[in-house]
Amino acid sequence: MTELLKVVGLSKRFGGVKANEDISFDARKGEILGIIGPNGAGKSTLFDLLTGYQEPDSGTVVLNGHTITGMRPDRISRMGVGRTFQKLKPFPDLTLIENVMVGALARTSNIREARDQALEAIAFVDLLAKRHSFARELSTGQRKRLELARALATGPRLLLLDEVTGGVDQKTIPGLIDLVQALRGRGITILTIEHNMQVVMEVSDRILALQFGKRIAFGLPDAVRSDPHVVDAYLGSADAA
Ligand SMILES: Nc1ncnc2c1ncn2[C@@H]1O[C@H](COP(=O)(O)OP(=O)(O)OP(=O)(O)O)[C@@H](O)[C@H]1O
Ligand SMILES: [Mg+2]
Repeated sequence: MTELLKVVGLSKRFGGVKANEDISFDARKGEILGIIGPNGAGKSTLFDLLTGYQEPDSGTVVLNGHTITGMRPDRISRMGVGRTFQKLKPFPDLTLIENVMVGALARTSNIREARDQALEAIAFVDLLAKRHSFARELSTGQRKRLELARALATGPRLLLLDEVTGGVDQKTIPGLIDLVQALRGRGITILTIEHNMQVVMEVSDRILALQFGKRIAFGLPDAVRSDPHVVDAYLGSADAA
């Protein structure tokens, strides 16, 4: 089976807001799936539903043949789904290595093992030299790497990245793209929410486009980019930059 994730008819409302409405798609093993859409389209909500941070009103999420809909976040994490958060929230007064150990401790209670896994993840994101720095001392780009390392240390086979390149300066972006591609090189399947069109076109095997909580396009990057619904959604929008 090449399909790792299958999502069918996922819906979630917040009061009168349909944050996700009948969203269906799949992700294949080893794929990088880009997720695009204007502000408020429902991208982060979709990640919350996939990782158990929010419970869907309807729909199903199947991971490697197992239905995980409605499971708690810690259980979904242990089943191999890792995520980063759009709003970074490292513990500012913990060191880099301590922050990443928090991720590793999601899968082991052995401190030594957690430390080794944390160090491996920190080496992977190329921040070993900073391992004893406090999180509050890190730059935005470094905190993005911390967040990637923390998620990686949970041992994911499916990794959901919420705006990895968001809020960092232009010169920091290529290094982050390289990291995402290197993660895939480790066999990890990736869903990446991305506002930067150039980045998403470059890294994605396929793209899912959302608007007003609905799927408006899903397929190969070139087809999605030229899809009339996508063009419409981005016309006159600052997101198209
Ligand atoms: N916990 C919540 N409670 C109430 N409303 C929410 C909640 N989370 C999201 N929403 C609403 O759901 C809609 C989708 O939000 P979401 O954060 O998923 O969009 P997004 O595509 O990630 O946007 P952005 O590009 O700005 O990050 C928005 O109208 C938002 O205000
Ligand atoms: Mg978001």
